[in-house]
Amino acid sequence: MPRSTPDIELTLLLEAIYLKYQHDFRDYSRVSMRRRIEQARAHFDCSTVSQLQDRVLNEEGVFSQMLGFLTVQVSELFRDPSYFRAIREKVVPILQTYPSIKVWVAGCSSGEELWSLAILFEEEGLSARTLFYATDINPEALRTAQAGIYPTAALVAGSRNYVEAGGKRSLSDYYHAAYGSASFARSLQPQVVFADHSLATDSVFSEVHLVSCRNVLIYFNHELQNRAFSLFRDSLVRRGFLGLGSKESLRFSAATADFDDFDRNERIYQRR
Ligand SMILES: C[S@@+](CC[C@H](N)C(=O)[O-])C[C@H]1O[C@@H](n2cnc3c(N)ncnc32)[C@H](O)[C@@H]1O
Repeated sequence: MPRSTPDIELTLLLEAIYLKYQHDFRDYSRVSMRRRIEQARAHFDCSTVSQLQDRVLNEEGVFSQMLGFLTVQVSELFRDPSYFRAIREKVVPILQTYPSIKVWVAGCSSGEELWSLAILFEEEGLSARTLFYATDINPEALRTAQAGIYPTAALVAGSRNYVEAGGKRSLSDYYHAAYGSASFARSLQPQVVFADHSLATDSVFSEVHLVSCRNVLIYFNHELQNRAFSLFRDSLVRRGFLGLGSKESLRFSAATADFDDFDRNERIYQRR
């Protein structure tokens, strides 16, 4: 069946981005890509996606702005508190038996998931022996994650989530507030390596005990999800943990045979 012109234009744009910038969005969910490219087309005031492609290829700075449209940056401290409660109550007691722990927060965006885990690990006495890897493909998001500074307005939901997640103190114990912003990095100082890493093109870089990759795979198609699951399997130690987002699942993927359900409701799995 002949493909529609918008569909051809979308395919060509993603191919062009891959060839020129090595960012591979070709196996992202088509529906979400179409929506995101449409937003970018309107933003750059282009009448067609082909025109947008021309600007992405030939105008400096357009691609880095495009990255903001192509990647969804929504995040929140202790997002889905029951997930963090399950990590605290069920996963942490097992991690506590290890002399040293490595945690990979894949697709960390602006860092809220990382800082939530850092607080949780601090409260459970694991900080000194834990190394976090926080990775993403969006350099601006990584910079925010590393700075660990958020507007105080974001702390209202964060504080509520923290309590629901089983927080033992007050969230305000973990940040330094000044001029309408809260800095976690200045107060907490966990060991974190921030790095540009793509689940679509890069390979395994370390052996870890917990992978937390939430609300990233939802944007991938089935093949790309399978690629990510293989990476997670290859980086996890035996019986290591994988935590996904509330709308993500290992079920119906090629990786089901590599993992056991650990907490089915919270999408936490354990490597076989
Ligand atoms: C919706 S945010 C999720 C943030 C955080 N994990 C959470 O649940 O709050 C999705 C993140 O995935 C990142 N991302 C998209 N494609 C990626 C890829 N191929 N490899 C790594 N990260 C990716 C985006 O840049 C974005 O920061």
